[in-house]
Amino acid sequence: MRDVAVIGLGVTKFGELWDRSFRQLIAEAGSKAIFDAGVSGKEIDALYVGSMSASRFIGQTHVAALVADSAGFSHTHIPSIRVESADASGGLAIRQAYLSVASGMNDIVVVGGVEKMTDVIGSEATETLATALDQEWEAFFGATYPSLYAMIATRHMYEYGTTREQLAQVAVKNHANGALNPYAQFKNPVSLETIVNAPMVAYPLGMLDCSPVSDGAAAIILCAADKAKKYTDKPVKIIGSGQASDTLSLHGRRDICTFDSTVHAAKKAYKQANLQPKDIDLAEIHDCFTIAEILAVEDLGFEKKGEGGKAVEDKMTTLDGDIPVNTSGGLKAKGHPVGATGVAQIAEITMQLRGEADKRQIKNAQVGLAHNIGGSGASCVIHILEAM
Ligand code: COA
Repeated sequence: MRDVAVIGLGVTKFGELWDRSFRQLIAEAGSKAIFDAGVSGKEIDALYVGSMSASRFIGQTHVAALVADSAGFSHTHIPSIRVESADASGGLAIRQAYLSVASGMNDIVVVGGVEKMTDVIGSEATETLATALDQEWEAFFGATYPSLYAMIATRHMYEYGTTREQLAQVAVKNHANGALNPYAQFKNPVSLETIVNAPMVAYPLGMLDCSPVSDGAAAIILCAADKAKKYTDKPVKIIGSGQASDTLSLHGRRDICTFDSTVHAAKKAYKQANLQPKDIDLAEIHDCFTIAEILAVEDLGFEKKGEGGKAVEDKMTTLDGDIPVNTSGGLKAKGHPVGATGVAQIAEITMQLRGEADKRQIKNAQVGLAHNIGGSGASCVIHILEAM
């Protein structure tokens, strides 16, 4: 295995982008990343794309071919691979691309993530998202993403005394960060009071505890690390990559307040990087619901189990806290076009490690972690990156 670096990135704005198509979004992100890396199209050996459910959101399968074509690669005939792992599709596309470069099979690859979710009505988006849950034992009986995460939140409150206000603090922080991110879907700070009083979706999660339904795309360019300096002065090395799985359904878990997929993926990534949680300078965490960020802060080892709520209340995870979490605004405020999310997380960490995150820049950031979850925790992909 050889070292692999990120040498370029590109993101589109996230949001309800009714004037943009799926192919326009991924072509914009991809061309920005290629331009940022300064590579020519001819140097790219393969294309990987994470997309959860284009077949239902826009009626399109054969996404790999569509993306290669839209991005102008049909004439170079490079392999194009679509990767699906629910909302961890983007993170898994990066891992597959990373392995292909680490193995020596490819030198330079482009990895994209894209979803166009708002062309269907809200109830259809909810149903499509629920296809990532257990159809037979959860979705068939009416369970949805918000309702399952609501059960996790209720149990966490019961076991550890986590409060409604602590959940809301996650959204306060992430909206404040999103307000500093020009690409975020929501750029409005939101008060604790507004969040607690927002319309209820599934108790205790109100509308402002949920990530939104979003359109958007992100892309990065990966390169063999020994060739990276030819393209950029600021390559960012992937020093750890971990993936793990768990039962598809929530009721199969040993404990619904812990995502074992996160615990195991993190263990692998930390081991490869030869680092511990205390060595991480910032993290992009899969906060699809406010409780998900609290769980991950614990499962990644930043705080002890049960203390994630207190950590956000004590401002440990703000931009100037001990471990800044979701500097981009997270899924909550930046938006969550499901297939794009994992790639956008790596783009944010890369910006931070290159010192290019503008008003949300973390001082002296050297090591960042990206945490991408599929479903209600059945899949997890984690990457650790370091400035070279
Ligand atoms: N956070 C903040 N604002 C939100 C929002 C959210 N999650 N969802 C919608 N809004 C805003 C919209 O921008 C819109 O604002 P506007 O009136 O200024 O344009 C307004 O609220 C109404 O939007 P609408 O689309 O009608 O909301 P909705 O009631 O159909 O959907 C949720 C709200 C919370 C149900 C929906 O966002 C949702 O299902 N989120 C969860 C998605 C999910 O499960 N993702 C997978 C997670 S892993």
